[in-house]
Amino acid sequence: MYPTTNLTVLFTIYALLPSPTSSTRATFGEFCDNRTIRCDSAAFLTCRNGTCTCLKSDAMTFSSSQSSCVALAGEKCKFTVVEEFRSWLEEVGCVQNAKCSPSSGICACDAGFMEMPESGVCSPKRVFGQGCNSNGECRDDLKCVQGQCKCDPEQAVYDFEQQQCVGLADAACLNERCTENAICRGYYGGHSIDSYEEYSGEDTKCVCSPGYTKSPEGLCQVGHGGACDLNTQCLDKLKCQEGTCTCPFQGHQTFQEAYQDCYSLIGGPCTPNISPKNESSSSFTHCVKPAICLPNGHFRFECACPEGMVENAERSCDLTQGRICSSERSTSGGGGQLKCDTLAPLFCIQGKCQCEDEFKIYDPLAKRCRGLVGSNCDRGGQLADNSFCVDGAFCKQFRGSDTKGRCECSKYFVELRNRTCSVVEVNNNNMLLRG
Ligand SMILES: *[C@@H]1O[C@H](CO)[C@@H](O)[C@H](O)[C@H]1NC(C)=O
Ligand SMILES: *[C@@H]1O[C@H](CO)[C@@H](O)[C@H](O)[C@H]1NC(C)=O
Ligand SMILES: *[C@@H]1O[C@H](CO)[C@@H](O)[C@H](O)[C@H]1NC(C)=O
Ligand SMILES: *[C@@H]1O[C@H](CO)[C@@H](O)[C@H](O)[C@H]1NC(C)=O
Repeated sequence: MYPTTNLTVLFTIYALLPSPTSSTRATFGEFCDNRTIRCDSAAFLTCRNGTCTCLKSDAMTFSSSQSSCVALAGEKCKFTVVEEFRSWLEEVGCVQNAKCSPSSGICACDAGFMEMPESGVCSPKRVFGQGCNSNGECRDDLKCVQGQCKCDPEQAVYDFEQQQCVGLADAACLNERCTENAICRGYYGGHSIDSYEEYSGEDTKCVCSPGYTKSPEGLCQVGHGGACDLNTQCLDKLKCQEGTCTCPFQGHQTFQEAYQDCYSLIGGPCTPNISPKNESSSSFTHCVKPAICLPNGHFRFECACPEGMVENAERSCDLTQGRICSSERSTSGGGGQLKCDTLAPLFCIQGKCQCEDEFKIYDPLAKRCRGLVGSNCDRGGQLADNSFCVDGAFCKQFRGSDTKGRCECSKYFVELRNRTCSVVEVNNNNMLLRG
């Protein structure tokens, strides 16, 4: 290597020498003999075996557009030329789409191009969807994901219109660009800044525009109840029905805000949970908690209550009589807590689902609490139906009251010790007998 000062001198000497014009010098591939026909040394050619070839045959290639030998990508582009009694430091051009790096003195491919290991040329990096072996082979905004150039699945999505990756909701903006219906916002010390000028250089984040909800995939779509024209505008699990994004099986599903998903009610369609991975798939249909998905018939799966539970008025499941429950005398299911059968109705008494008091008895066939003889049978300010009372009894209203009454054995029934009613039979002698 030459010190910088000497280098300047050497170049000066070279420039002052009478330089033969290229027409008198043989070019690449032409005949030469080093005496009468010499190769164009300014084009980094040398005479080898009677033919003009590049000085470094394995590190250079002849470029007809530059009429000179050029260094291949990854090869030295600054080196010492020795010719007869002279030697000097020269910079040779680089192959197409590469530049000589001033620091390393090696030809480096331009941005967006990659070095081909075999040929040493720079070819355009692969675009979206093309095959790859490493990140370096893909265009700068892409990554090599499972052998294909793709956007970083965690951060970005490919926008086919703009032909580039754009930021997903809540991820950083890419070139200030975000997925559809999201805007790029800057954050300075955790505070949002509106104009790009203000935030350039700060952290950026894609934020869903008002009226749009972030989907599990990081897209900004119309949420439940929002206006739509097409299914694709709605969150994945929703369908555009009558201009509104709703659950696909209207009347059989409920939308749960916390999960941004539709949950099927008892009797609604569901996906059997074969593998845990399925649950996150966009086609998976959940059952409301604590319902389970059971095969119904040969093909269809439907949400049903598990053992020990019974369907309630919300088409979800409540605990049946005798089951262990948690909150005392509470039928409210706040916080996803299981309730005792609200229709029977059962209450959580001493940790078990039971009828209101000892004047009521649970009828497993009718799945409801029934009033024993002597039990009040007014319900919600009205006289209860006769079926409120145990078999053989009726709701007898109090004298002068339209709203209050008690269960009493009907005609031809007698009260037993346990406050139930038993039918009486009349024998041939017209005597009453207990049944
Ligand atoms: C030189 O040229 C001759 C004849 O074309 C060929 O046979 C020989 O292999 C060449 N040698 C080299 C080193 O290229
Ligand atoms: C021509 O000169 C160069 C440089 O001195 C030398 O390397 C090469 O072998 C010579 N070629 C022939 C054909 O004589
Ligand atoms: C659930 O996963 C299984 C096995 O991985 C697959 O065959 C099936 O198609 C998946 N079902 C759904 C609805 O995604
Ligand atoms: C009440 O007593 C009768 C007669 O002993 C009996 O047959 C019936 O099962 C009892 N009913 C209940 C609910 O205990």
